[in-house]
Amino acid sequence: MDIQRVGVVGAGTMGNGIAHVFARSGYQVVLCDVEQRFLDRAIETIGKNLDREVAKNKITADAKTAALQRITIVVDRARLAECDFVVEAATEKFEIKAQLFRDLDRICRQGVILSSNTSSISITKLATLTGRSERVIGMHFFNPVPMMKLVEVIRGLATSHETFQTVRDLAVKLEKTPVEVNDAPGFVSNRVLMPLLNEAIYAVMEGVATPEAVDEVFKLGMAHPMGPLTLADFIGLDVCLDIMRVLQEGLGDPKYRPCPLLIKMVDAGWLGKKSGRGFYRY
Ligand SMILES: NC(=O)c1ccc[n+]([C@@H]2O[C@H](COP(=O)([O-])OP(=O)(O)OC[C@H]3O[C@@H](n4cnc5c(N)ncnc54)[C@H](O)[C@@H]3O)[C@@H](O)[C@H]2O)c1
Repeated sequence: MDIQRVGVVGAGTMGNGIAHVFARSGYQVVLCDVEQRFLDRAIETIGKNLDREVAKNKITADAKTAALQRITIVVDRARLAECDFVVEAATEKFEIKAQLFRDLDRICRQGVILSSNTSSISITKLATLTGRSERVIGMHFFNPVPMMKLVEVIRGLATSHETFQTVRDLAVKLEKTPVEVNDAPGFVSNRVLMPLLNEAIYAVMEGVATPEAVDEVFKLGMAHPMGPLTLADFIGLDVCLDIMRVLQEGLGDPKYRPCPLLIKMVDAGWLGKKSGRGFYRY
């Protein structure tokens, strides 16, 4: 299917970045969220991020205007019927995604591929909720989406070769580098990254070091561009907790137990950068 119009479901941290890169690459985008204010905030963020690209001479001011004009914001999910491809980037909760995949299967045309940007939830499981499991796939972008090159392309058990090729080609058209991964809790990225972040939080909780000191160790000793606690704040502590729970449940090993301090911070509404407070203040 010729893909011209892309649906992006969820206009948060990832959804606005995904809408940004599709629109910048010339695709029409239908960006959907549950409330108008989330969509307004997303458009404002995309505008600011495009401005930054103009300032760095990565794109022209005209290209920015054109990209913004390609994005339509909708609360009504039924508007996704116009789309030739969908990326779901809603909250990392199985029940939310399950309901969305059932709805998307009903709303979207038969041949349309439904992809999820989930960080950890089983693509195979989401696929079984639809009548098109061969056309369900993981398209896992990284934060901040306009800058990060990687897209993990995750094959569910039933994902067809054609679907995989289409999504891989799409990632290349967005100037990303696709890497093929099979469906398993946390895929590769979060299976390895999240236990690292969780362990860094344990180190803080146990008084081994301050967040600043933990981050310095990783920046200076391991040449990471940012430390694990800054990264956790950027990802969102609620997202980190949800992923740890998926790893714990899916792999059944106590080593994936979420750190109690992480749970406490999420309970307090300290979700990292997006809420203004996490391990640092923003
Ligand atoms: N934050 C990261 O660094 C990161 C990286 C890669 C993948 N992901 C994944 O991307 C997805 C989104 O994460 P995020 O960080 O953008 O979360 P977020 O909390 O910033 O945004 C989620 C958005 O989804 C919306 N939403 C919830 N239910 C919805 C529904 N039924 N229909 C439409 N919109 C709905 C929320 O209103 C919110 O605006 C998750 O699956 C997450 O695991 C996140």
